[in-house]
Amino acid sequence: MSFPITRPRRLRRGAAIRRLVRETDLTAGRLIYPLFVMHGRGVRREIPSMPGCAQLSVDMLVDEAKSAQDAGVLGVILFGLPSRKDPRGGEAYDPEGIIPQAIHALKRDIPDLQVWADVCLCGYTDHGHCGVLEYGEVDDDATLPLLARASVAYGKAGADAVAPSDMMDGRVGAIRAALDGARLTHVPIVSYAAKYASSLYAPFRDAAESAARFGDRKSYQMDPGNAEEALREVALDLEEGADIVMVKPALPYLDVISRVKDEFGVPVAAYNVSGEYAMVKAAAERGWIDGDAVAAEILLSIRRAGADIIVTYFAKDAARILKEFAG
Ligand code: PBG
Ligand code: ZN
Repeated sequence: MSFPITRPRRLRRGAAIRRLVRETDLTAGRLIYPLFVMHGRGVRREIPSMPGCAQLSVDMLVDEAKSAQDAGVLGVILFGLPSRKDPRGGEAYDPEGIIPQAIHALKRDIPDLQVWADVCLCGYTDHGHCGVLEYGEVDDDATLPLLARASVAYGKAGADAVAPSDMMDGRVGAIRAALDGARLTHVPIVSYAAKYASSLYAPFRDAAESAARFGDRKSYQMDPGNAEEALREVALDLEEGADIVMVKPALPYLDVISRVKDEFGVPVAAYNVSGEYAMVKAAAERGWIDGDAVAAEILLSIRRAGADIIVTYFAKDAARILKEFAG
């Protein structure tokens, strides 16, 4: 049947009918809010390239997480700034390091908030790479035990999930075995399974002070041209015991999100990364776009592509934004 019998505009004539036939729903309950935690008290250091985001001491972190929860956000993911860096990223797996401290405080004050801990070494190593170096190269086998130790430290501190973002081969299996060996069988692994070597991480590296001192991350993060390889990465991580798989960044990789969801049918997370956030904020500051409306559209598109969970710096404002622009 076609025109004049069929007129798709009939279902677009008012807000109520549009709402009734909308295929994709998104609420703040599907969002995870990334937070940066540092030593000290009463500290909030704004991150210039990520307007609205800041490095927070543990007390301020708890306040920020509470206000996100009040806005309907169910969870946060933590990135730590250590007191000092060394070649092996020691504070990443120190049971008394900044992340275990933050987890303890959050679980004490906001017990029903989902607290995920990012697991990687790049914020803790003096060279800024995600693994340790052997003969000048990032080495999987030497890195796995350290990632496993970090995961156990975070699990013991009460993390609701650990989220390895390093892209070392074999890390999900190593982490699962270590968690299980430490009687942390209940702690899920959210694997950054398809993480691309993207130029959209630049603001994050200011925030986490985690830029590599030499070279780049192309020997471990994925080539942006590859989608089949993303499916292989996801398959491997699921075999090794990943509970949730993540695609990162989100917007330039909607096809990958969609294929992962279709192919595997497991819970899929997508990371709407710092550069994606900064672009919206910067254009909005110039008055070139309506930042909130664009944020709502982007988040909805990531959900439409198949993400069950979206990690985004817009999370705290999203309840309001989504109601206003996508509700
Ligand atoms: C590194 C890590 C990165 C992000 C989170 N963990 C990227 C990187 O430096 O390679 C990026 C997040 C963002 O840009 O928002 N383990
Ligand atoms: Zn890293």
